[in-house]
Amino acid sequence: MEQVWILLLSSVMLFMVPGVQAQVSVNRTGCGLTKLCLETPDDCDPSGNSSCLFGSVAAGPHMPPNGVNLSFELSGQSFGYVALGLTVNATVGSTRFFICGKRNETFFFRTMSRNNTNEMLTAEITTAVDVQGALSGDVIRCLFTVGGLNATALRSSHSTTFSVLLGRGNVTDGGVGPLTVVLSSDPLDLTNPGSNVNTTATPPTTSGAGGAPHAHAGLLLLLGFLALGLLPTL
Ligand SMILES: *[C@@H]1O[C@H](CO)[C@@H](O)[C@H](O)[C@H]1NC(C)=O
Ligand SMILES: *[C@@H]1O[C@H](CO)[C@@H](O)[C@H](O)[C@H]1NC(C)=O
Ligand SMILES: *[C@@H]1O[C@H](CO)[C@@H](O)[C@H](O)[C@H]1NC(C)=O
Ligand SMILES: *[C@@H]1O[C@H](CO)[C@@H](O)[C@H](O)[C@H]1NC(C)=O
Ligand SMILES: *[C@@H]1O[C@H](CO)[C@@H](O)[C@H](O)[C@H]1NC(C)=O
Ligand SMILES: *[C@@H]1O[C@H](CO)[C@@H](O)[C@H](O)[C@H]1NC(C)=O
Ligand SMILES: *[C@@H]1O[C@H](CO)[C@@H](O)[C@H](O)[C@H]1NC(C)=O
Ligand SMILES: *[C@@H]1O[C@H](CO)[C@@H](O)[C@H](O)[C@H]1NC(C)=O
Ligand SMILES: *[C@@H]1O[C@H](CO)[C@@H](O)[C@H](O)[C@H]1NC(C)=O
Repeated sequence: MEQVWILLLSSVMLFMVPGVQAQVSVNRTGCGLTKLCLETPDDCDPSGNSSCLFGSVAAGPHMPPNGVNLSFELSGQSFGYVALGLTVNATVGSTRFFICGKRNETFFFRTMSRNNTNEMLTAEITTAVDVQGALSGDVIRCLFTVGGLNATALRSSHSTTFSVLLGRGNVTDGGVGPLTVVLSSDPLDLTNPGSNVNTTATPPTTSGAGGAPHAHAGLLLLLGFLALGLLPTL
């Protein structure tokens, strides 16, 4: 028996509100073409294998003046929570983690910032909307969108390249327990769904060489916002 929640929220950091029934399907359809996929073990399919820890990100259309939205999918087995993180450099600075978990068999979503040096997690307010979560046995699946940023955030954007981290952890009485990172990608251009796929023609992309021209300008706005939170020096 599967339980599903939809949470329609913005600018909140902890959601535990049961909502409307809906489908939450996470699978490999579109990997490398419409969405950038990361998973462990390699090439596992989250729809067919509960031991698969899977995350994806897709950039939406750019619609000025509202910027672009990044749509995430996350699926994996955990007694507590699964997490997807974005960071400029996984060994310095901080990582913004989006966490989907269960407490008392109820889905929750929250955002945490991890100090990459000492691995301390602190709660963080962020803009995430259209959060959907499903619990099925020990498997937690969720979808969420981050974005809707405007040009105000442009000032500090330089890069569309981030390392993506996947991990899991347990839920404690007080909140979320320590995070175990099980996958840490090389820096990837999030504008390019194929940036972690080997092709003979495409060398590794650098900042500004994304594959989606329409989304690109807006993504810079959005990532400028993300970078604000990720780079203490900005
Ligand atoms: C794969 O996921 C997409 C998006 O959630 C969904 O629309 C589609 O039906 C899924 N495909 C399969 C085969 O489950
Ligand atoms: C799930 O993935 C694991 C690790 O790759 C593999 O050993 C196992 O056979 C897979 N199970 C199924 C049902 O595909
Ligand atoms: C971003 O998401 C918000 C909330 O779902 C939506 O209102 C807005 O139209 C989206 N913007 C774009 C550019 O897709
Ligand atoms: C991350 O930062 C460390 C220390 O500054 C540096 O040695 C390393 O090259 C950086 N890694 C990347 C991918 O930039
Ligand atoms: C689960 O619910 C029970 C009863 O409402 C409560 O006593 C307990 O503290 C809850 N556990 C957690 C981890 O929230
Ligand atoms: C991260 O932790 C290190 C070591 O405790 C500390 O020196 C540094 O100031 C912390 N960084 C942030 C951004 O809190
Ligand atoms: C842009 O974002 C800033 C800060 O969030 C907000 O104050 C401003 O009203 C927004 N402008 C537009 C045109 O949405
Ligand atoms: C969560 O708790 C279980 C049982 O206490 C333990 O086996 C597991 O290693 C923990 N997982 C993490 C990621 O800490
Ligand atoms: C790309 O191919 C090289 C050589 O076969 C391999 O070492 C590397 O792991 C591959 N990278 C990806 C992302 O598949």
